[in-house]
Amino acid sequence: MSVKRLGVVGSGIMGSGIAEVAAKAGIEVTLRSRSQTTADAMVAGLEKSLAKQVDRGKLEAAERDAALARVRAVSDLDELADCDLVLESIVEDLAAKKHLFSELDRIVAEGSILATNTSTLPVVEMAMETGRPERVCGIHFFNPAPMMPLVEVVRSITTSDETVATARAFADACGKNPVEVRDQAGFIVNALLFPYLNNAVKLLDSGVATREDIDAAMQGGCNFPMGPLALLDLVGLDTSLAILEALYAEFKDPNYAPAPLLRRMVSAERLGRKSGQGFFDYRKK
Ligand SMILES: NC(=O)c1ccc[n+]([C@@H]2O[C@H](COP(=O)([O-])OP(=O)(O)OC[C@H]3O[C@@H](n4cnc5c(N)ncnc54)[C@H](O)[C@@H]3O)[C@@H](O)[C@H]2O)c1
Repeated sequence: MSVKRLGVVGSGIMGSGIAEVAAKAGIEVTLRSRSQTTADAMVAGLEKSLAKQVDRGKLEAAERDAALARVRAVSDLDELADCDLVLESIVEDLAAKKHLFSELDRIVAEGSILATNTSTLPVVEMAMETGRPERVCGIHFFNPAPMMPLVEVVRSITTSDETVATARAFADACGKNPVEVRDQAGFIVNALLFPYLNNAVKLLDSGVATREDIDAAMQGGCNFPMGPLALLDLVGLDTSLAILEALYAEFKDPNYAPAPLLRRMVSAERLGRKSGQGFFDYRKK
């Protein structure tokens, strides 16, 4: 099956990015946000992002107009009924995602695929909320979705070969490089990346070096494009904490136990770029 109509649930960092990628790839996108105000704000953000690409000569004005015409922002979940694939990208919280899957199963056409953009949570638990566990998988985009080439296609023990093939073809159609991975917390990238990010926070908290020097060291010493603390700010500290909690719950490996400072920063609502303040301050820019 090829995906012609995509539903995206959640208009945060990732939902908006995925909507942009799919619309530019010629796929009709229905983006569902819980309120029409945030849905409309997402379309305004998309317009801004595409306008920038036109200004930089990376996109033709006609392509921008065509991409925008493919995106419909709605607040009613029922509007997703005729999508071939619905990809949820709401908050990294298993209870919220399970509830959403049971609702989507009731609304979305029987033969369609329901997928999650979760970073770490068990896909099988979402699949078992539906009457179609063979047509549920993970389709994990990376941040920022328009720029990052990788998509992890996550196969839970209930996912059929056909669903995996459709998910891979969808990622290909979006111009991404899919890899296939089993449904285990963190999949490939976050299982390897998060102990490193978590240990960077512990290093900062122990006073070994300043935030600037920790980031400069990993950029200059390992040729990483960003330092670990700037990357955590980009991902979102609330999402990062949820990722570490899920990894720790699965493996009980101390490297995954969230750094106490990370938890306190989330309590203080310093969530990184999205709140204007995290390990670095984005408010003055
Ligand atoms: N941030 C990243 O770098 C990144 C990368 C890949 C995957 N992800 C995954 O994508 C998903 C979304 O992350 P994000 O970074 O876009 O987060 P975000 O905080 O930017 O957006 C979350 C969205 O979920 C909505 N939401 C919150 N509670 C909800 C509920 N109960 N029901 C419906 N919607 C609800 C919020 O209004 C918001 O629009 C998560 O599963 C996350 O793990 C994040």
